Amino acid sequence: MRAVDIIIKKRECGELTSQEIEFFIKGFTNGEIPDYQASAFAMAVLLNGMTAFETADLTLAMARSGQVLDLSKIVDLAVDKHSSGGVGDKTSISVMPMVAACGLPVGKMSGRGLGFSGGTLDKLESIPGYRVDLTTEEFKKQLKEKGIVLTGQSLDLAPADGKMYALRDVTGTVPSLPLIASSIMSKKIAAGAQAIVLDVKTGLGAFMQTLDEARKLADLMMDIGRLAGRKTVALLSDMNQPLGHAVGNALEVIEAIETLKGGGAPDYREHCLHVAAHVLVVGKKAQDLEAGRALAEKCIADGSAFEKLCVLVEAQGGAVTYVHDTSKFERAKYVEVVNAPQSGFVSQIHARGVGEASVALGAGRAKKSDSIDHAVGLIIHKKVGDQVQAGEPLFEVHANDEAKLAEARQAVLTAHQISAEFVSPLPLFYE
Ligand code: URA
Repeated sequence: MRAVDIIIKKRECGELTSQEIEFFIKGFTNGEIPDYQASAFAMAVLLNGMTAFETADLTLAMARSGQVLDLSKIVDLAVDKHSSGGVGDKTSISVMPMVAACGLPVGKMSGRGLGFSGGTLDKLESIPGYRVDLTTEEFKKQLKEKGIVLTGQSLDLAPADGKMYALRDVTGTVPSLPLIASSIMSKKIAAGAQAIVLDVKTGLGAFMQTLDEARKLADLMMDIGRLAGRKTVALLSDMNQPLGHAVGNALEVIEAIETLKGGGAPDYREHCLHVAAHVLVVGKKAQDLEAGRALAEKCIADGSAFEKLCVLVEAQGGAVTYVHDTSKFERAKYVEVVNAPQSGFVSQIHARGVGEASVALGAGRAKKSDSIDHAVGLIIHKKVGDQVQAGEPLFEVHANDEAKLAEARQAVLTAHQISAEFVSPLPLFYE
């Protein structure tokens, strides 16, 4: 078998066999198949798609590219959550501590930024010292002892996804149904989750822009979950505007911390409570969503969710003083408040435009080797449906470069639309 023949077969819209997929993923993982062939493969998949069988084979091959954890001796029921990616989506940083504080141990493998969407690992690394490269043994030990883990792919957990993900970020191969489904589900399966809550985003700042596409992605991932014997639930949530106020790594971590302290943006808090309620239900800690939500609310109110975040950060080597005192986070050199050019109701905040502006400020990567600027990003003051007066603060740009600041100001102004007519707020969830 040769990698080039597999790429050509997919280029010609052929259906790959399980053996071909297995061969390609094995070769890519051990370095025999180079990045340029894997990039061509990803592009062929993006352009020509995959059948449900091919996608399931790709997922299982990626999950088996490293160890597949069996956590049954460590926790009663291993639960996990994953988002399909969006702008300002720092959900895991609040939800995982909330759920763990309710007595449900959670171990999660997160991802880095992907295209215009931010990544939990890049965000967490804005806490000095925070390690995202735990070994499998460390993952298991921490899950058992602390009841919470938030790390990245190690060399021995779904390494094929780790390598493919980094390539997709910089080769224009992110928005592909089979590539997203296999990326997410391979990580979940490898990390040993028995019950999984998927937060599938739809809208202008999601990889799946229509509800129909998002539903297809959700169905595909639920089918893969079923095939792998994992209980899988999917929520379809809005990603037309950024989630919460903050976009950018440290800024988002600060917003997640404030939420765990009982504050935070109302839409983000509500989103987190709903996702946490679902995780608590699939994790059998709550009978229904109402009870799950009440539990999640209680652990914010009594401080135990915030305490759990401190436990997590400390366990992974991060400076917990930053969590207690968010003024310690590195701030960007320039912070400019941009005012509304006219009065009215905010009718659009194009999430993708905002995400791209944040990446251009340095919060994401253009090339694999690029480093991240943790301090830069945006604070969105008004949300869709909010009334605004001309001259009132609309958003803030946090930049370390004056030219980039000017570009971001323009891009984010363009992302905003203000209407003279009343505009309803956007829903948080569709299904
Ligand atoms: N999250 C992932 O882990 N992978 C994707 O491809 C998209 C979102």
